[in-house]
Amino acid sequence: MSLRASSSVPFRLQRSELVVPGSNLGMIESAARSQADYVLLDCEDSVVSDKKDQARSNVISALNEIDWKQAGKTVSVRINGLESRHMYWDVCKIIEKAGDHIDTFLIPKVGSPEDVHAVEKLLSIALLDSGITRRVGLECLIETALGLVNVEAIARLSCATGSRLEALHFGVADFSANCQSRSLAIGETGHLWHPSLQRMLIACRAYGLRAIDGPYGDFSDAQGYIDIAKGAVAMGYEGKWAIHPAQVDLANQVMSPAIAEIEQARKILDALDQAQGSGQGAASLDGKMIDAASGKMAANIINKSLAIAEKSSA
Ligand code: GLV
Ligand code: MG
Repeated sequence: MSLRASSSVPFRLQRSELVVPGSNLGMIESAARSQADYVLLDCEDSVVSDKKDQARSNVISALNEIDWKQAGKTVSVRINGLESRHMYWDVCKIIEKAGDHIDTFLIPKVGSPEDVHAVEKLLSIALLDSGITRRVGLECLIETALGLVNVEAIARLSCATGSRLEALHFGVADFSANCQSRSLAIGETGHLWHPSLQRMLIACRAYGLRAIDGPYGDFSDAQGYIDIAKGAVAMGYEGKWAIHPAQVDLANQVMSPAIAEIEQARKILDALDQAQGSGQGAASLDGKMIDAASGKMAANIINKSLAIAEKSSA
């Protein structure tokens, strides 16, 4: 018998993650009014070098001045990478000045478990120094060949006592560049990355993390976004980035079970209940065999729809 991996990742709805450059206060303010489940305030690649300090102070003001909880959002900050001196100041200053308002940090270009340990240590010291006891989570971008080679070991960190790790994101733009893919598009050729997406998803599911699909660059191509997002959700992903406000509703729509799916899931659970009442583990519904595994798939859909309904009624 295998040992069951256990992690204590808090539940958060993360269907849509709207990414906004920390250097643009106007975009941050409108992100707070959007329908996104998550807002990612970026200090990394969407911010040029000479605006890094300004972006960090905008992020600090936005964390303090906007009521993200009231707006129904989880708020996350993408720090600079481990090779950058800005990473140190992102973690220390944001915790010192706004540590009571941030939910998670997203670490870009994670290559190994040691990268996560380094940020986890720095974050824990910054929290201690500021006397902050509330939990601040960590999320990682898997967007290099090295990160993918080590993805299982990275995901397994969530099983360590006190781990802050909650989610992995597949960063298709940097991943394409790092793999030297002969392409200039961001995330528009889903099938190309299918094995890598699948590998990250399995690592997430094995160790209890949320799996989030990254950007789709052509924000005027709604159908293209929907097609890629549908592939991700069918695989098991629970959310996708929106690099433009127009993509938020698309992500929410694809990542939420449709009414017909919920009704079918209920029918499956009812049919299985009846079958069990007469001593059968399997049953037939609409000409198809269903069994305990169908019941688990149906329960996933019902649970997701309940979580969404809870958020909408909050
Ligand atoms: C995200 O950061 C990406 O590189 O896709
Ligand atoms: Mg990237």
